[in-house]
Amino acid sequence: MDDIRNIVILTGAGISAESGLATFRGPDGLWEGHRVEDVCTPEALARDAALVHRFYDERRAKLAEVTPNAAHEALAALDAQWPGELLIVTQNVDDLHERAGAKRLIHMHGELQSALCAACGKAIRWMESLPPASVCDACGRPHLRPDIVFFGEMPYEMDAIDAALRRADLFVSVGTSGAVYPAAGFVQTALHAGARTLELNLEPSAGSFYFEESRMGPASELVPALVRDLLA
Ligand code: OAD
Repeated sequence: MDDIRNIVILTGAGISAESGLATFRGPDGLWEGHRVEDVCTPEALARDAALVHRFYDERRAKLAEVTPNAAHEALAALDAQWPGELLIVTQNVDDLHERAGAKRLIHMHGELQSALCAACGKAIRWMESLPPASVCDACGRPHLRPDIVFFGEMPYEMDAIDAALRRADLFVSVGTSGAVYPAAGFVQTALHAGARTLELNLEPSAGSFYFEESRMGPASELVPALVRDLLA
């Protein structure tokens, strides 16, 4: 690993599983008892805002019961100590990376603790429940919604992510099923840029094929081991 300077790390629900947060695609194919399309699409929000808001209220409240695990902490230590470029791109809407201390972080799918005004586009830090028709403090209109990137919407900061991938010497994917684009395609961008590619997951994912190396096991063991190697 001596020749590595620029690192991009993509994380998914698997990194937060050992903290007690459910992954999106459980064995029953449901996310906390719901079909993803019933709680994670603009159509669902238009059809039944009360259900969608309640669902994310429950997820936001759950954050108070969980803490970062050894994988989040190891990535925060890497962020603090890595002298080259480093970007952690998370698909997760929880706040466990930042609570562990990570700074060079992008939440590409939004954040539970943020409300987005569908009228003016302002994002507002939001820690409590978010009833439908809550009023935006910037434009005064009653269109606040969970600041979650729904299916069919554009993830955040794609230009910055793409630029980092094109400069990467190492791309690591942690605990993601590789089922959702554009994140699932990051490995190919990194490969084309000449990066080494490494997957850490409990089991082979839909995208395992693209990675030069896959290590199978719990994130709380694999991530600290990788960070020890990188910082050695
Ligand atoms: P998934 O639920 O699709 O996949 C979780 C992955 O984590 C699976 O591949 C598991 O094998 C792996 N995993 C589970 N426990 C693990 C552990 N302890 N250590 C390591 N790996 C583990 O979650 P994502 O890939 O993150 O989008 O889902 C991608 C997106 O789909 C989400 O961001 C969400 C969802 O719809 C939005 O909310 C916009």
